[in-house]
Amino acid sequence: MSEHELRVSKIRNGTVIDHVNGGQALNVLAILGIDGSEGFGVSIGMNVPSDRLGRKDIVKVEDRELSQSEVDVLSLIAPEATINIVREFEVVEKNRVERPEEVSGVLSCPNRNCITNADEPVESRFAVVPDGVRCGYCDEILREDLADYIDV
Ligand code: CTP
Ligand code: ZN
Repeated sequence: MSEHELRVSKIRNGTVIDHVNGGQALNVLAILGIDGSEGFGVSIGMNVPSDRLGRKDIVKVEDRELSQSEVDVLSLIAPEATINIVREFEVVEKNRVERPEEVSGVLSCPNRNCITNADEPVESRFAVVPDGVRCGYCDEILREDLADYIDV
């Protein structure tokens, strides 16, 4: 790292989501349901130069690990992401995300008539298809800006 580079500090415990496509960091936080009011330490780097991606975002969340359904949705907006688990300043686990066959729970279906939007709560489920995700209940296809459909 050159003396002119500025990086967000290392964290003691938590999760570093690295190699996020440039510009997607805030969507990553949305997927994790983090808006800052939870009290976790959160640092983000946006449009940091990267050999592999040209520019990348980094999201560091202290004292928090990610659930599999969060990682599944994350993989759709940040297919090159690496999830690093940090304990006592050391990276103890590093995983690449994989495109899942389906995602459940994190996204919500925009079709008002979909059963997932009825009064009885039904957990959303979407099949991952080549051009987006398809609702498992009403077949509505969400093509782009999946972050707009995050269930908050
Ligand atoms: N990191 C951190 N706090 C720590 C340890 C690591 O914030 N206590 C961050 C690093 O800044 C880096 C990411 O976690 O963004 C992964 O760390 P590391 O595996 O040490 O870096 P690289 O080897 O460069 O990772 P990769 O090979 O995945 O690019
Ligand atoms: Zn639906």
